[in-house]
Amino acid sequence: MIFTDPPYKITARGNGGNSGGMFQKKEVNNGRVFNVNDLEIEDWLPKFYKVLKDNSHCYIMTNNKNITHYLDVIDKSDFHYIKCLIWVKDNKIMGQTYMSQFEYIIMLRKGSHKKINNCGTSDVLQIANKKMKDENNKTIHDTEKPVELTDILIQNSSNKGDTIFDPFMGIGGCGVSCKKLDRKFIGIEIAEKYFQIAKERIGLYQ
Ligand SMILES: C[S@@+](CC[C@H](N)C(=O)[O-])C[C@H]1O[C@@H](n2cnc3c(N)ncnc32)[C@H](O)[C@@H]1O
Repeated sequence: MIFTDPPYKITARGNGGNSGGMFQKKEVNNGRVFNVNDLEIEDWLPKFYKVLKDNSHCYIMTNNKNITHYLDVIDKSDFHYIKCLIWVKDNKIMGQTYMSQFEYIIMLRKGSHKKINNCGTSDVLQIANKKMKDENNKTIHDTEKPVELTDILIQNSSNKGDTIFDPFMGIGGCGVSCKKLDRKFIGIEIAEKYFQIAKERIGLYQ
């Protein structure tokens, strides 16, 4: 299985924080918030297809800004589009239209039909958007995803002993889920600082 949360364009928030009720600003720096953030879906999607085993799922997180382009590229790829899941966060961000409170998780398949392990799982996943803080109470990674979210996807689309790949792992929440759920994990992260935190978190999980 592949789970990933790629470095897509985002709209910066007023105070750069992560609590609820903030105002959106226009896209800053062409939406690139990380030091290294210059990849496009066209660069990596064919590579995902190449490394994923047949009859496996691939989950890709994205937001309202990028979803149309992502679906367009996916439509032309070898992947089979299954559906979009919705991650409902507890925080809301205020802009010019409706307040933003969710992200998309695009679910794809390589190969033939494969059912999930718990078909009773809703396609709307409501999980608090809690982020790790450093010793100065500053958010460590602006786009960290909760381990509880990757737990659900991994439990549904893999079995104990399977290998999960997260090519843009940030501070490694997906790896923590894998360790917790007895899956093997391959994670890649270009920023040394995040990579070290991921290694430590995954290593510490008992
Ligand atoms: C949206 S964040 C992922 C956050 C992650 N889900 C977490 O919970 O921490 C995307 C990550 O991709 C990393 N990144 C950007 N370009 C990359 C590349 N070429 N190879 C590997 N990682 C890259 C960024 O440094 C950033 O940490």
